[in-house]
Amino acid sequence: MALRDIKHYQRDSILRKRSRRIDNIDDRVHTLLDDMIETMYAAEGVGLAAPQVGVLKRVIVIDIGEGLIEIINPEIVKKSGKQLESEGCLSVPGIVAKVSRPMQVTVKGLDRDAKEITVEGTGLMAAALCHEIDHLDGILFIDRADIVYEED
Ligand code: NI
Repeated sequence: MALRDIKHYQRDSILRKRSRRIDNIDDRVHTLLDDMIETMYAAEGVGLAAPQVGVLKRVIVIDIGEGLIEIINPEIVKKSGKQLESEGCLSVPGIVAKVSRPMQVTVKGLDRDAKEITVEGTGLMAAALCHEIDHLDGILFIDRADIVYEED
């Protein structure tokens, strides 16, 4: 495993690009996942998407303190309710913003063994899933923000 550099929204236009679906989950994808997990924990983040380490592939990892979740080709298949909570992003350091998100989402995708998985998230987990999946389409939370402010 290895730490990867986290891309910065003001310097790295790759964060604005769309990521490609993964057709073949090979060793390279496993290494990418392992590196993303190590990088996320080292940076004390609660989520990371592959474009944030410069790879335009549809891969996300999340750990909001309830255990690690890895999803390949994640797709939101159901959402309901609404919440307005503060978010930050490892690629947008020093900025916090209130973002409207669904209160509950259901996400389908694949795990590292190419097995289909369904992940349901409520509250912070729902926001994290939406935030990370947005990264795969080149969308940052500040694009969706209602109120943006600098962190103390
Ligand atoms: Ni982010």
